[in-house]
Amino acid sequence: EGGAWRDRFGRPLTDLRISVTDHCNFRCRYCMPKEKFAHNHQFLAMTELLTFEEIMRIARIAVRNGIEKIRLTGGEPLLRKGIEKLIADLSLLRKPDGTPIDLALTTNGSLLVKKGGALRDAGLKRVTVSLDAIDEGIFQGFNDVGYPAAKVLEAIDFARKLGFRVKVNTVVKKGVNEGEILRIADTFRSTGVIPRFIEYMDVGNANGWRMDEVVPSSEVVAKIASKWAVEPLKPATPGETASRWRYLDGKGEFGVISSVTRAFCRNCSRVRLSMEGRLYLCLFASIGYDIRTMLRGGCTDLELEEAFGRIWSAREDRYSELRAIGAAPDRSKVEMNYIGG
Ligand code: GTP
Ligand code: 5AD
Ligand code: SF4
Ligand code: SF4
Repeated sequence: EGGAWRDRFGRPLTDLRISVTDHCNFRCRYCMPKEKFAHNHQFLAMTELLTFEEIMRIARIAVRNGIEKIRLTGGEPLLRKGIEKLIADLSLLRKPDGTPIDLALTTNGSLLVKKGGALRDAGLKRVTVSLDAIDEGIFQGFNDVGYPAAKVLEAIDFARKLGFRVKVNTVVKKGVNEGEILRIADTFRSTGVIPRFIEYMDVGNANGWRMDEVVPSSEVVAKIASKWAVEPLKPATPGETASRWRYLDGKGEFGVISSVTRAFCRNCSRVRLSMEGRLYLCLFASIGYDIRTMLRGGCTDLELEEAFGRIWSAREDRYSELRAIGAAPDRSKVEMNYIGG
């Protein structure tokens, strides 16, 4: 199944996640807590960022070698100037069999009403919007900049009306937003929007994660199943992050992402490219492989392709599986706003 490059465990590379900026206008407690990302925080300089041409060069090589899916992330990707231009170019990429790649974007939704039309015209077909609560007090407690949930809901509705396929990401934190699960599920029933409830993870070094703050996905499913009859759906692709469920009354589906209680490293086919041109083989990796130096040093496409393949071939990452058996390496990890989740 797909992917020319295989890692040490035989996992193909089919999924490229590109973080286009480390900036964000939110300060989600679990990602960019204000104590660590203050007003005077030093973000990367423009010259450090990969240009769109550089990103396209990497993307072209990746697609030629089995990448089927590209996701743009951040920080907040819509803060990157001219992002619609990059999307227009990415949406023209074709897999070796001539079909389009699956192109998606993860956003906090704050710029979606402003940019949605341009994104659609650039060829984007789907977006994933983060929304951890509908209750204003709880949501603003999450984003920590007083951004209203009502505006994110408005953006989701707007995106849906523009014709985007929309998913919603909800990070569930014990004692904080468990009470929002049914409300979020109910809000999106019958709308075609697919909510996904994510187990709170120990990404980065800034969020002070504790195991006892995780709500196991089994509890999320049980909660929803107590209100509506549901059944599991087969995964759409082998390496899928979410387990999918559908409502028996035909009102749609939802997903749970259980990186903590049910690690899905076994089929993990994802590589992450940082805004300054480093390849990360895992969301929890401590180092990334610099390819910007090669790019800017005038390497050929073939050299780049060989380097990419070599980096993936040596991959042994499986952090969540190791965490589950208490063997997670105790070292610093890449930050979420840098690598995009
Ligand atoms: P689609 O299902 O194609 O829409 O993509 P996705 O499930 O990868 O979506 P998204 O990027 O929105 O990720 C949802 C959540 O899963 C986020 O919290 C991510 O951080 C988390 N996630 C995505 N990929 C991985 C992964 O490889 N490992 C872990 N542990 N978490 C991941
Ligand atoms: N645990 C789980 N999900 C997280 N995200 C950000 N930080 C965490 C975390 N600590 C989610 C965001 C966004 C996605 C890219 O990752 O909510 O939807
Ligand atoms: Fe910004 Fe997304 Fe991180 Fe929240 S989770 S601070 S919206 S990058
Ligand atoms: Fe992939 Fe690392 Fe996530 Fe496991 S923890 S699924 S290896 S990104």
